[in-house]
Amino acid sequence: MPSAADSKPRSDARVVAPPGRRLCEVTGNRAAGGYRIFSAQDATGPEPRAGQFYMLASAEGWGGHSGRPYLPRAFAVAEAQASDKGVRLDFLVDDVGPGTERLAALRDGDGLWVTGPLGRPFSHPRELDPDIAGAILIGGGIGLATLAILRRELADRGVPVRTLLGFRDREHSGGVEELFGCCEVRLASEDGHVGHRGYVTELLTVLLEGDSARSAAVYACGPPAMLETVRALCTERDVRCELAMEAPMACGFGACMGCAVPLVSGGYMRLCTDGPVVDAAEIETALVPGSGH
Ligand SMILES: Cc1cc2nc3c(=O)[nH]c(=O)nc-3n(C[C@H](O)[C@H](O)[C@H](O)COP(=O)(O)OP(=O)(O)OC[C@H]3O[C@@H](n4cnc5c(N)ncnc54)[C@H](O)[C@@H]3O)c2cc1C
Ligand code: FES
Repeated sequence: MPSAADSKPRSDARVVAPPGRRLCEVTGNRAAGGYRIFSAQDATGPEPRAGQFYMLASAEGWGGHSGRPYLPRAFAVAEAQASDKGVRLDFLVDDVGPGTERLAALRDGDGLWVTGPLGRPFSHPRELDPDIAGAILIGGGIGLATLAILRRELADRGVPVRTLLGFRDREHSGGVEELFGCCEVRLASEDGHVGHRGYVTELLTVLLEGDSARSAAVYACGPPAMLETVRALCTERDVRCELAMEAPMACGFGACMGCAVPLVSGGYMRLCTDGPVVDAAEIETALVPGSGH
């Protein structure tokens, strides 16, 4: 098997966003542990692929003379269900500031401005390397959102998936039942309230010690420190790995340069258009200044 760095470039089968933003109707908002899941009906937009994201702003109580939140906020899509009425989009939200506070408070019938789907999705394991048969998904905190559609897409295509999810503490955890209730997951928490007491990356280290480690691709989303540990573990072991990363995003479509991330080959990528899913072998570090998770 070639090394991770030598492997062929990833394909990029992104779904392209229609121009402009569109107004969607909020159709639900429920608690999910310490987080919330809100839903909106996207009547005219396409179905996104796993790893893509949307720029969101509520129609009321956003910007204007009252100030913050002003710019839209980037959100991974946690689930997407197509029907004859369009696509129902689900988002998992952690209330950490004015934008997420407003989105977490959305009610049925409210308006939500969406732009998307944006960015580069996850690759299928066989696109990363024809010898790779399975997938290991590893999520930290709110980062599990973007892995839920990926798990479904891979399961639909018959790919064996192992899922590892980790949380800081009870307050900063949720969404497992709602988004992964259908399948087996291994859990970790730093405070020990659920699963293995410690970091979720410790569970990954055990999996990567197995003989079959290089027959699976690793897909990760979570806090920068977690992603950096995953990147280092996989790079050291030549395991193919994609990271869904975050950076401060003001526009979401390549215009502001706020989301630049340094590349191993020199220069930078814009995470909103060249990511948010990146090949771990391409980046110098996953410790992106200013990213919240
Ligand atoms: C591609 C992408 C996908 C994302 N997907 C999601 C998602 O699915 N769900 C979600 O809730 N967020 C998601 N985010 C993060 C979200 O866009 C930011 O956290 C956003 O800045 C929050 O806006 P705010 O106005 O609430 O807080 P801000 O005013 O932007 O931040 C307020 C303060 O909180 C800190 N902060 C920001 N985020 C966090 C955090 N998560 N934990 C702790 N402190 C934080 C900031 O550093 C700042 O000090 C995503 C970001 C990106 C780039
Ligand atoms: S968010 Fe503006 S260039 Fe990426």
